[in-house]
Amino acid sequence: MNLRERIRDWSQPIYYLGQNPVTLTGAVITTSTALTNIAFWFYDVFLPGPPHPYIGLLVYLILPGIFVLGLLLIPIGITFRRRSLRGSGKLPGTYPAIDLQLPVVRRTFEYVAVATVLNLLILGTASYRGVEYMDSTSFCGTTCHRVMDPEYTAYQNSPHAHVACVDCHIGPGAGWFVQSKISGLRQVLAVTFHTYSRPIPSPVKYLRPARETCEHCHWPQRFTGDKFLVKTSYKDDEKNTPQTDVLLLKVGGRTWQGSVGIHGRHLADAARIRYISTDNQRQTIPVVYYTDDKGKTTEFISSDAKPTQQQLDKGEHRTMDCVDCHNRPTHAFDMPENAVDKQMSLGRISPELPYIRKKSVEVLKVDYPTREVAQLRITEELNNFYRANYPRIYQTRRTLVEQSGEEVAAIYLRNIFPDMRMTWGTHPNNLGHNDSPGCFRCHDGSHTSADGQTITNDCSACHQVLATGEENPKILSDLGMK
Ligand code: HEC
Ligand code: HEC
Ligand code: HEC
Ligand code: HEC
Ligand code: HEC
Repeated sequence: MNLRERIRDWSQPIYYLGQNPVTLTGAVITTSTALTNIAFWFYDVFLPGPPHPYIGLLVYLILPGIFVLGLLLIPIGITFRRRSLRGSGKLPGTYPAIDLQLPVVRRTFEYVAVATVLNLLILGTASYRGVEYMDSTSFCGTTCHRVMDPEYTAYQNSPHAHVACVDCHIGPGAGWFVQSKISGLRQVLAVTFHTYSRPIPSPVKYLRPARETCEHCHWPQRFTGDKFLVKTSYKDDEKNTPQTDVLLLKVGGRTWQGSVGIHGRHLADAARIRYISTDNQRQTIPVVYYTDDKGKTTEFISSDAKPTQQQLDKGEHRTMDCVDCHNRPTHAFDMPENAVDKQMSLGRISPELPYIRKKSVEVLKVDYPTREVAQLRITEELNNFYRANYPRIYQTRRTLVEQSGEEVAAIYLRNIFPDMRMTWGTHPNNLGHNDSPGCFRCHDGSHTSADGQTITNDCSACHQVLATGEENPKILSDLGMK
């Protein structure tokens, strides 16, 4: 029997038995959902910008669901027709040929074709409208976007503002793509039913390993060497006296002598540091395992945290990667003091205005009912302060006062999102040790091994402090930087 005959033998009974309303409906539904789905899939893949969870909802859940339903209808219809024909003794011994010349056959094909086109129009329009609705301001503006507002705002002000969300949150590869679509679906449902947590919890438990995201763009073994860091903060006095720290951060990397410095000592091709944390934000780390270049593993236990065995068993076991230090490479939220210092050293908030540091931090720390109210009241309060206490400055340098006020308000708007319960310090930054424990979660001098080694807390292991809190650091004038 050649292939053609085999296909004929196979298709003739299906065609004959398939001529019942149930099977035909199934056929129409499957073809039209399949076509709609392919169209949306292309739309989703080639659409610029972040992925649309709603299209995902359609492409991965709703349309496949309808497709499977249609698919099931086909054999169901066939089985019923076969059974009823057999019951009435009308089941033919040989099935009639599928001959397009026969009007009956032609009519069936025409029916299926027309119904498919109609169904395609209906389904396509309905789906498109659905997505459009969910994209609309009434759906998204009031629910979805508010959820991501803090992260999106911080992102726009970050070094990664031109890196797509998906490059860090999904990364290449089909497995994670589907996984993220499924979690996207969960998020859509959570948003729809208002069951999401506020703020969105961080760390992101199932963030894809940094090796597969950050390391597509950054090369961890690259030798960065020392990084020169100048940080100026200001005192709360009338003059806003500057205090400058100058550090050489030993970022390091791989050298011909092996892996050195901050990057080199934590990252290796094999898992170098593992740890157990006992809180949701990975801020308490009582146990650390370190594998050295020779492959020997040392266990460091904190004498401060004293966790119980039960806490350790329940704690999160994790292999350290980029995100354990760079947990806010993109969604960095500041503390008020820090943020004001940063804008003052950039000159956006003028250090020439008396008490501006003190007043700015003060107005930022107030609890305002909404962001809009905050924006108004912050600028108002600062204007009033200078009008009342320094009228001459207010008169002669009014634009400076107003500009500075706007910058202070902008700090608030970048960091505080009452709707999402995001306030100062909600998401600590682990890169450092001044605002939150950061490096000192492990490098606090209390993590000791059985043979008496300690994870170092020697200031000079991480940086050479060239100046601390100096008004005019000599090192900067020596280097011609001031
Ligand atoms: C350069 C990489 C990168 C990019 C780009 C990026 N993120 Fe993130 N995102 C992270 C990291 C890292 C975390 C924190 C992970 C952790 O601590 O576990 C995070 C956390 C989050 C969180 C959890 C809450 C929080 O603040 O920690 C949300 C929500 C989020 N990102 C949304 C987005 C959105 C929306 C975009 C695009 C507008 C985006 N991200 C772009 C790296 C990135
Ligand atoms: C798609 C590419 C891409 C990915 C993925 C990516 N980055 Fe970057 N990253 C960049 C670029 C480009 C810059 C430089 C931006 C600039 O110089 O303005 C940068 C800058 C940085 C900086 C320096 C920031 C600064 O203040 O100068 C750090 C730290 C960093 N990335 C960490 C990460 C981490 C951690 C991840 C993973 C969570 C990550 N990046 C993922 C492209 C990427
Ligand atoms: C032990 C903590 C730690 C880990 C782990 C870590 N980093 Fe860093 N990284 C730092 C510190 C500290 C700096 C310097 C901070 C600064 O610039 O203010 C830095 C600086 C950087 C910079 C900026 C370098 C420059 O030339 O300015 C990049 C990019 C970067 N890290 C990427 C990564 C990537 C990618 C990974 C993961 C493969 C990673 N880091 C892992 C602590 C860490
Ligand atoms: C999860 C725990 C952990 C965290 C968090 C951590 N480290 Fe480490 N670090 C270690 C361990 C373990 C070692 C190896 C033991 C040692 O050398 O003391 C190490 C070694 C180092 C070394 C080499 C010290 C030496 O004497 O050669 C430097 C530098 C360093 N870390 C810097 C940092 C910085 C900077 C941060 C924060 C951005 C940080 N570490 C965060 C666990 C950690
Ligand atoms: C485990 C590594 C590590 C150790 C130990 C350490 N530091 Fe730091 N230090 C850092 C890192 C990382 C930063 C911040 C880098 C940044 O802001 O990008 C920092 C920042 C600073 C700053 C700048 C202020 C600021 O707001 O960022 C000062 C001052 C400082 N350290 C002093 C010290 C002193 C004093 C000691 C010893 C008691 C010490 N550090 C121990 C890693 C370390």
